[in-house]
Amino acid sequence: MATIVENELDSLKNLKDSFVRFMMTYKFALEEVNTKINILKQEFQYADDYNPIEHITSRLKSPESIINKAYRKGFDLTLSSIKENIRDIAGVRITCSFISDIYKISRMLQNQKDIKLIEVKDYVKNPKPNGYRSLHLIIQIPVFMSNRVNDVYVEVQIRTIAMDFWSSLEHKIYYKYSGEIPKELKEELTEAAFSALKLDEKMENIHDQVNKIKKHSQF
Ligand code: GTP
Ligand code: MG
Repeated sequence: MATIVENELDSLKNLKDSFVRFMMTYKFALEEVNTKINILKQEFQYADDYNPIEHITSRLKSPESIINKAYRKGFDLTLSSIKENIRDIAGVRITCSFISDIYKISRMLQNQKDIKLIEVKDYVKNPKPNGYRSLHLIIQIPVFMSNRVNDVYVEVQIRTIAMDFWSSLEHKIYYKYSGEIPKELKEELTEAAFSALKLDEKMENIHDQVNKIKKHSQF
């Protein structure tokens, strides 16, 4: 009897160890991507006269959300299935100043040799029906561990301050109403997304004019 309990405890402990190791690889992947973006940010600050990166945030999906998502999407509840199918366990969000910066930063990341681009969802060029805009990249980067190399998926969201402002509020309202936002509010939110788009376009235009003036004054 005691050995059955001991065996079960042993297998539970092994499961826990595997899960902790599994989550650790995502934490390391996040640190790698954060370092890469911080290097870009610091280099911009020193080499250029302006830094397009306003701020960077990152998050690890909680074990509970991982299991919920796997269950919701009908994926096997095994580590290998989760690793392959849930590609936003590690997430990084880069907020930048102008729309053009989004593509600039995206190109810079994609040009890094150890980053493999897996998927691009361009909600900047093709916004969602509710007005959501952002550039989403799923990338894969190698994480070097003591006895193995793990290729880890990371979701990178790149957006302007205006896009970030809108999506943070929309997200809060969405949760407040458990996903069932009243029709009127929904329409107002979509209008607000349009205002954010207009603001982004206006700021981009001013930015272009400033750049042109700067170019002329250099010669
Ligand atoms: P998830 O199952 O949520 O990961 O969505 P998906 O696999 O369809 O991917 P998608 O690229 O469309 O969205 C991924 C993430 O983008 C979400 O988890 C949010 O962080 C963000 N996002 C997407 N759509 C919206 C939106 O309408 N509003 C807000 N606030 N955020 C959004
Ligand atoms: Mg997600």
